Amino acid sequence: MRTQVAIIGAGPSGLLLSHLLHLEGVDTVVVESQSRAYVEARIRAGVLEHGAAQTLVEAGVGARLQREGLVHHGINLNFSGQTHRIDLSDLTGGSAVTVYGQHEVVKDLIEARLSSGGDLRFAASDVQISGIDGDAPGLAFTQDGQRQEIACAFVAGCDGFHGVSRGYVPASQHRIYERSYPFAWLGILAAARPASEELIYARHANGFALLSMRSAEITRAYLQCAPDEDLAQWSDAHVWDELHKRLEVDGAFRVNEGPILQRGVTPMRSFVIEPMQYRRLFLVGDAAHIVPPTGAKGMNLAMADVRVLSRALADYFRSGKTDRLDAYSATCLRRVWQVQRFSWWMTALLHRFPDADAFGERLRDAELRHVVSSRAASRVLAENYVGLPYDI
Ligand code: APR
Ligand code: PHB
Repeated sequence: MRTQVAIIGAGPSGLLLSHLLHLEGVDTVVVESQSRAYVEARIRAGVLEHGAAQTLVEAGVGARLQREGLVHHGINLNFSGQTHRIDLSDLTGGSAVTVYGQHEVVKDLIEARLSSGGDLRFAASDVQISGIDGDAPGLAFTQDGQRQEIACAFVAGCDGFHGVSRGYVPASQHRIYERSYPFAWLGILAAARPASEELIYARHANGFALLSMRSAEITRAYLQCAPDEDLAQWSDAHVWDELHKRLEVDGAFRVNEGPILQRGVTPMRSFVIEPMQYRRLFLVGDAAHIVPPTGAKGMNLAMADVRVLSRALADYFRSGKTDRLDAYSATCLRRVWQVQRFSWWMTALLHRFPDADAFGERLRDAELRHVVSSRAASRVLAENYVGLPYDI
């Protein structure tokens, strides 16, 4: 088999890259370890920045997003027993975010790729990269018991944080920057009408809580918990009890309960590998960086990488020019670090740190108060939340 770009991973990164390259006339094969049913059902992130939603619409894969996505013009911050609304649209000259599950984005992209004859290989095991040092890289994988090989010009590692691609960058050629947090998120998906039309981020003495949604009937919510939290210790009643406590600050509303459909623990980590390229291998999305989910940035940052790489590869295959490809890592890392900073800041502001002293707690309260009472400070939050411009 031969293709121009071999892509490992059918998450948002790999699928969007394959789709955007197809629009540019560049041929790809996507190799994914899980089944199609699995990736289409996996519940992950759910908030699209203004520019990310626009990217999908402009690429012709935004019809269902525009029909079913929930456009949010504001978010709420709860602390010290009060709710404060941040008017995202007013503060950013009209931008907004769209609540639309990552798995819905994945479904739309798979559908678009398959309907235009895209080559997606699901349930592929033992993916191996070869020849990235030379001019003839390739991928090998096993599917239906058969070992298969793809020759290509470039490999795109879109295989997430636990993928294999990052391991092909030699230790002497990269540096890793990381930070772990002394807490995690217990996330639930429930068949309950969301109690608030907009997201609520809450700082509470018992720990952070977030009320989100997937539709008019499905609530998504998170509770700060220990990194090694034992889910078995959390009865449904205990989960709802904590959500009521942490989210219902001023008696203005009550969290609606319903059957819990899914639950899981999300670790909190900040991670960056530099550079995001080694010879003919490009790392994209979670394969190259992880942000804590507080700012809702993971999927958006992945899509920003894809925009940069798809343009650079299109340039290369059209005219042989390599300047954009050579600048891929530096271009992406500018945004990556802006987003790392914002995600770290939102996380530090809203969570309870086990080792925080009373002075630190007061400083955090003061900072939150500043964020909601100064228009300049509110704007800083809003412009990061709806997404920084792509040309930073
Ligand atoms: N071989 C083939 N596929 C693999 C391998 C492998 N060795 N390892 C992982 N994969 C697949 C995973 O099954 C997954 O479908 O790669 C895909 C990676 O997808 P994501 O983890 O969703 O990463 P990405 O596409 O970069 O999207 C970033 O994902 O984790 C969220 O918050 C993050 O929303 C952000 C988004
Ligand atoms: C979600 O709905 O899954 C979600 C929303 C906002 C976040 C993180 C996750 O910051």
